[in-house]
Amino acid sequence: MGEKFTHLRNGEYVLNITVDSKLDPISLMVNRVKSDQRRHVLDLSIGFYQSEDQRHTGFSVLDDSKVDSACNGVTFSILGIEKYRDAVKKLITPKETISHNVSTVQTIGASGGLWLAFLILKREAGAKRVWFSDPTWGNHLEIAKSTGLGIERYNYDINKDGTLNFNAIKESLICLKPNDILVLQGCCHNPCGVDLTLEQWSEIAILAKSRSVYIVIDFAYFGLSRSFDEDKAILTPLLDILDNLFVVNSFSKSLGLYGERLGSLTFFSRSELEVNSFENFAKNIVRSTYSMPPQQLATQVADVITNPDAFRKWVGEISVVRDTLNSRKEALISALVSRGIDGLITNTKSNGMFLNLALSAEEVEALAVKFGVYILGNGRLSLAGLQKRDINKLANAICEIKL
Ligand code: LMR
Repeated sequence: MGEKFTHLRNGEYVLNITVDSKLDPISLMVNRVKSDQRRHVLDLSIGFYQSEDQRHTGFSVLDDSKVDSACNGVTFSILGIEKYRDAVKKLITPKETISHNVSTVQTIGASGGLWLAFLILKREAGAKRVWFSDPTWGNHLEIAKSTGLGIERYNYDINKDGTLNFNAIKESLICLKPNDILVLQGCCHNPCGVDLTLEQWSEIAILAKSRSVYIVIDFAYFGLSRSFDEDKAILTPLLDILDNLFVVNSFSKSLGLYGERLGSLTFFSRSELEVNSFENFAKNIVRSTYSMPPQQLATQVADVITNPDAFRKWVGEISVVRDTLNSRKEALISALVSRGIDGLITNTKSNGMFLNLALSAEEVEALAVKFGVYILGNGRLSLAGLQKRDINKLANAICEIKL
């Protein structure tokens, strides 16, 4: 709060919303879009998927299950109801992971999972610093700061041919220290859309182990790069090498539940004792903050994961979302190329919800002011909100500010 409490007077609360708010860049942009009164605003700032035409989340499998999965009564479950925890554990765990003990706890979205992992590692494992890619999701740094951890960054550069500059990552990780936390995005890197290969995951695991570093995988886009099985294959090389691993996921993107904050933190460890301690630490933190997570929707999502018909329907729906994102990307790239603009999109081989446009801050601003087209200040464009019918309008606007 920029103004502290200087506006709080005798029984009269005057809350000033100041422009120097400490909100993350995505929240600030969302507020700005909301205040634009023009009729034809194109909001490409945030990763909320909208299907073509109906502007639907793309997922209706949950509607079918609502009647059957009413949550019968309340149970006292600080770490989330068993049914949900077991279902998510099954969804996330690679089949061949037999040497690790596994525990999944329900969290308030993936953000809440990161927050919980950071607090546990800070309080119980001596962690002082957390490493994020540069660039990364706009709110990562704020979540880590709120736990009192120091922030470090590693390079995450995309080569001209659209691949990841893995050497740059390794070079910047030379400064890892024991007990540091290394956050890596499991798939559909936000904002780059370019991920590590299985060999690179092994190299990272070897590096982390040699430095006694904790790895936390942010799997917010699990299932949106390829199938669930293919996406979770990255955990196998990690678990082959590491003694323990934290994995965070949510159903915001993979099931269109952004507003419901349903997520989880899964902990893998070779030591059963360590898993028991993890659960106890998690219980203490959850009980002393928000007491316990909500149960109704967790029951429904557990049913979608465990009921074969519902699961099949979900797999079908998520593959439509993936294909739609991909075809929006291809259509935008060819619209730009046909207008004589190429080289503007650096991550042509990306997957997931975002494309990066090599635009200056002034050009991004011109898109907003002249055309009501909103992307993030760093050039990140969300394909999630881009309808095919708006692609020509977008390409024309980019053309005008570029040529
Ligand atoms: C995004 O990056 O747009 C999404 O993760 C939504 C959010 O909460 O920022």
